Amino acid sequence: MKINTICCIGAGYVGGPTMAVIAKMCPHIKVIVVDLNASRIAAWNDDNVNNIPIYEPGLSEIVAEARGRNLFFSTDVENAISEAQMIFISVNTPTKTYGSGKGMAADLKYIELCARQIAKVAVNDKIVVEKSTLPVRTAEAIKNILDNTGNGVKFQILSNPEFLAEGTAVQDLLNPDRVLIGGDTTVEGEEAIAALAAIYGNWISEDRILKTNVWSSELSKLSANAFLAQRVSSINALSELCEKTGADVNEVARAIGMDSRIGSKFLKSSVGFGGSCFQKDILNLVYIAKSYGLTEVADYWEQVIIMNDHQKRRFANNIVKTLYNTVSAKKITFLGWAFKKDTNDTRESAAIYVANDLLNEQANIAVYDPKVTEKQILFDLDYLHSRTEAENRDGVEVFEDPYEACKDAHAIAILTEWDVFKTYDWEKIYEQMHKPAFIFDGRNLLDGEMLSRIGFKYQSIGSAK
Ligand code: NAD
Ligand code: UGA
Repeated sequence: MKINTICCIGAGYVGGPTMAVIAKMCPHIKVIVVDLNASRIAAWNDDNVNNIPIYEPGLSEIVAEARGRNLFFSTDVENAISEAQMIFISVNTPTKTYGSGKGMAADLKYIELCARQIAKVAVNDKIVVEKSTLPVRTAEAIKNILDNTGNGVKFQILSNPEFLAEGTAVQDLLNPDRVLIGGDTTVEGEEAIAALAAIYGNWISEDRILKTNVWSSELSKLSANAFLAQRVSSINALSELCEKTGADVNEVARAIGMDSRIGSKFLKSSVGFGGSCFQKDILNLVYIAKSYGLTEVADYWEQVIIMNDHQKRRFANNIVKTLYNTVSAKKITFLGWAFKKDTNDTRESAAIYVANDLLNEQANIAVYDPKVTEKQILFDLDYLHSRTEAENRDGVEVFEDPYEACKDAHAIAILTEWDVFKTYDWEKIYEQMHKPAFIFDGRNLLDGEMLSRIGFKYQSIGSAK
């Protein structure tokens, strides 16, 4: 099938950047990104490209280049489906918050809605691409809906999971380690795989485009996230042991990471991993294993989440303990709220949970993050329903200026590894804080020796306390 128009349902952190890069690298293909969320689409269409809804280094430049040429953002889902030969589904697949599988299984209601809408609108053959992260065997359900509710046209379902990481999305998309395409092993299935591979072939070499069956592709995505998260939990588990024994987790990570079988990436000890996907995808994997009766498999992966929750909680507990067992009415400043640097995304950020624990201890939390808005920070806390919205607003103050945020604080906690934090005038910050002035570096970001010389009581993750 010759593809000249594609559409993507879902203009979020995956749909937006992925389609922008396809549009940039394939000027001969018309790319339409649609979403039900009208304000998100309006932001993607904002005359000022700096106002697009997602902050990713390099993204606004690509949108400026391609938008209006072959990249379009719209709320007209039906028209886009009918015009496109290939439809990417890139909607959210959060953890279920109700019914069976609550708190574990992926909620596939948005996926099903997309399938039903595609079936209703399509009057000629289409290739439907799963871009969202989905439980293994979801393609079967999508196919069932399409075949039973459609207009008799033929659908091919492909799995093409996305491996980009936020903060480096554009680089990851331009130069991926691999692209994974799963499809049917029939002639039609292979033609569909070839059509999608040809799109990526415009800028990615053939040896990096892996072709598998659908189920391997679906399961590989959950497995990749589980492996990555497991490395973070493994090094974080060791960080606690380092704190007790006088070993230093950075040195341990370096020593083990130089073993080429282990590798040095993803061994950075932290206050705990966040982001919209690691936890959700592991819970989903655990749920799937349980549903097949594989208790040991489920328990093995669940431990990654248990360790991560422990790491977040013990960071908060250590602040309370170090501040003489009470933080009541003490100002504690959070530098960073995003779940990692170079993104404005806060989903499942460790900062939310640490703040929640400290608010329970009646601390006053001051927050400064270079990219996250006050509205988002308060929304994240309200979403936990731990206390009233008024109480959250009493307990939390968000600042535009980091020095103001740190003024009169008893302690600073580094929750995100924004590079700019390293460049601050730490002597000035020290002078304006209550003494002893504590820094709890949840990202092992700052120069502890320099800060100690200034007079700070500096603590990092995974070295003797
Ligand atoms: P997101 O919440 O940022 O975006 C999803 C968008 O889909 C929202 O704007 C929502 O309004 C829209 N939507 C939902 N139902 C719709 C419908 N029926 N019609 C039109 N629009 C609809 O989510 P995201 O972070 O982009 O993640 C999307 C998927 O990609 C998830 O399955 C996620 O696991 C996976 N993923 C995410 C990342 C990441 O870095 N965020 C990386 C790889 C994979
Ligand atoms: C992750 C994966 O890296 C992507 O491949 C995947 O596509 C994506 O999830 C997804 O499916 O959503 P992302 O969550 O955007 O990407 O960012 P990561 O760089 O993986 O970081 C996740 C969390 O782990 C962050 O909170 C980060 O600070 C933390 N982390 C990461 C550590 O604490 N230590 C590390 O060594 C690495």
